[in-house]
Amino acid sequence: MTVNSLTNKRVLLGVSAGIAAYKTPDLVRKISELGAEVQVILTKNADQFVAPLALQAVSGHAVHDHAMTAESESGMGHIDLARWADVVLIAPATANVMARLVAGNADELLTTVCVATEAPIAIAPAMNQQMWQNQATQSNLATLAERGTWIFGPDAGEQACGEVGPGRMLQPVDIAQALAQQFTNGALSGKNVMITAGPTWEALDPVRGITNHSSGTMGYALAQAAIEAGAKVTLVSGPCNITPPDRANVRKVTSALEMHSAVMAEVNTQDIFIGVAAVADYRPVDAADSKIKKNNDEMIIKLVKNPDILADVALHEHRPFCVGFAAETNDVVDYARGKLERKKLDLIAANHVGGTETGFGVPDNAITLISADDVIELPKQNKYGLARALIKEIAKAYKNA
Ligand code: C5P
Repeated sequence: MTVNSLTNKRVLLGVSAGIAAYKTPDLVRKISELGAEVQVILTKNADQFVAPLALQAVSGHAVHDHAMTAESESGMGHIDLARWADVVLIAPATANVMARLVAGNADELLTTVCVATEAPIAIAPAMNQQMWQNQATQSNLATLAERGTWIFGPDAGEQACGEVGPGRMLQPVDIAQALAQQFTNGALSGKNVMITAGPTWEALDPVRGITNHSSGTMGYALAQAAIEAGAKVTLVSGPCNITPPDRANVRKVTSALEMHSAVMAEVNTQDIFIGVAAVADYRPVDAADSKIKKNNDEMIIKLVKNPDILADVALHEHRPFCVGFAAETNDVVDYARGKLERKKLDLIAANHVGGTETGFGVPDNAITLISADDVIELPKQNKYGLARALIKEIAKAYKNA
């Protein structure tokens, strides 16, 4: 993979109603040439500036217009599009679209997808220089930047309206390059990353078992973010009800022992190992072959300790860079640091659980990332944003190790 490649990426291009929209068929071309699949959504009136048929021809997909009708929703509806996208790129982004993004309006297809998606949003602003310099636009720009929106341009120079100043959309080739640069931070390009995720299931009999509430979301989000950063990802997953990223090599397991074997079978080829799974500490000594009957008033289940997968990986002779997770209800940093030392890890991501706002089963999370000589706070955000921030920091630490 070249450093600026968009190989395998799915780009949802939102075209809003500005004169620069006439350049978007070329933009679709430039993005496709870097390896991405592109679908296009037009906002209301954008078809006054660019022919939908031209966009259909270059993208190879029917173009979605602004309306959310029963008919359009019965095909690839707004939620499907929101899930499909690896990034939503709005080019040109008018002052009006920027304002609607800030407000969180869901008043037509493109803005609704932006509210519904977990993918990053990128904008290439294009407008008259006075509109660009307007206080409201500048304040909207600052808000979008603060929320993590990728902002490409604008350029300065002669404008379609005859004025000269900032507000010209970047050239298609530069937008495509800027987009590619966001994905390939280069650090994980070509690296093998193994991630464990989800809970384990320790069978008591064929129908019952011991498990926990881990949904797998954080591990799957990290797998997605590592893929976006160019890594080849092996996802060793306990039983989860979420869809894994389609470019991950998925190894489905049930118990901690199975997870241990699956990890050990491939660990010697890995550059980075991230243990996110909530592995059961103990398993029943013997799982019954048939359903246990309720014949007695009491029942004692004897448990035996499971292997510590992460600690075993850290002791392996071809040891990858090791990252652990520590979910704690109190004294989070102290306990996590203890785990870092005991399990001989390079990094540990500590998060506060047990409250109602972060941790297991809730969409948002905050993390403190601890190494032998550094503590980095990653503020509360949704698990997908957090995963991307975490992968960035892991890549940095891996490079410096
Ligand atoms: O010791 P504790 O369970 O709190 O450590 C959590 C970290 O260790 C997580 O990264 C988890 O994935 C990993 N772990 C493991 N195997 C176990 C227990 C925990 O890989 N048996």
